[in-house]
Amino acid sequence: MGTHRVGILTGGGDAPGLNAVLRAFVKRAVGQLRWDVIGIEDSFNGLLERPFRVVDMTLKSCSGLLARGGTVLGTTNRGDPFSFGPDKRDRTAEIVDAMADLDLEGLVVIGGDGTQKIGLRMMRERGVKVVGVPKTIDNDLSATDTTFGFHSAVSVATEALDRLHTTAESHDRVMLLEVMGRDAGHIALHAGLAGGADCIVIPEIPYDVDRICRKIDKRRGVGRMFTLIVVAEGATPRQGAADAGVEHGAKGRILPGGASMALARALAERREVDVRVTVLGHLQRGGSPIPYDRILATRLGVGAVDLVDQERWGEITVLRDGHVIGVPIEDAVRVYRRVDPAGEMVRTARAVGIEFGG
Ligand code: F6P
Repeated sequence: MGTHRVGILTGGGDAPGLNAVLRAFVKRAVGQLRWDVIGIEDSFNGLLERPFRVVDMTLKSCSGLLARGGTVLGTTNRGDPFSFGPDKRDRTAEIVDAMADLDLEGLVVIGGDGTQKIGLRMMRERGVKVVGVPKTIDNDLSATDTTFGFHSAVSVATEALDRLHTTAESHDRVMLLEVMGRDAGHIALHAGLAGGADCIVIPEIPYDVDRICRKIDKRRGVGRMFTLIVVAEGATPRQGAADAGVEHGAKGRILPGGASMALARALAERREVDVRVTVLGHLQRGGSPIPYDRILATRLGVGAVDLVDQERWGEITVLRDGHVIGVPIEDAVRVYRRVDPAGEMVRTARAVGIEFGG
């Protein structure tokens, strides 16, 4: 068991539990194994500026981090060092130089699909030693059973549904709750099941608005005058152009609120219903992690120390069948996990009468 000096960074969108990973890593690596751990600010960007934006990670600096949301190191989802800034410059050589200047043996990269792919390229093309820790509230990394932050997001979305339920019922309204998930509908599916939604609309199952109308009719027919619909932000209709009438951002992506507004408009055009839309947005990414995510983040943080300790560079610490293990980062980013439209979760939801619109 040797000593190490490594950098640690958080990349991509934040997720509740990032700080808990940092804390666990430092407690084990610095507190027990006496390694040096250097925190790099704002993903890889902290190494691209002189003076470097880095911090010495001490036990003291990690005090109070278990329950704290966000990431004390800061993060960005716009900092690919292979294609940096408006001129898309490759600045990876600067990272290699910075690591040499700081005497860093390798990097611990906590991030989602995009950040892990950058880590993998840094390793293959620049010879940087990397260990990964998976992060995404969207739960769309297939290599791990689940990611920290996801269940915290589901918990916020479920509470929102519970609250919308009572006001929807009081006013006989159709209530739409839009949750995150541009490409995968896991948050919508889980929150919809936990919050007793009547309809769940996800990117994996393009919806037929008439089916949703018929669900509303059916409920009204038995005296249930309100309907609760969860919409993943990447959901699209089956009819017409997939994303007709939906607002798009610079990268051609549907803007937050676009999917639920499009569905609300389509429903109001077809039925005499009072429709309201709530876009949950970043409320589901901020704040304290729930206990499950604190524990998972702690386990993955300690798992990352084990991988560095065993010099298993190029691996990422994941949860498989309930156990924390290391697998090649390459395997972890190869397959994107979407909701399986024929899977048990969707079948269960259908079995309790939830309509998917398709
Ligand atoms: O991490 C992915 C995600 O949660 C998406 O579901 C969402 O669309 C996105 O982040 C939004 O991130 P930001 O607003 O920070 O770009």
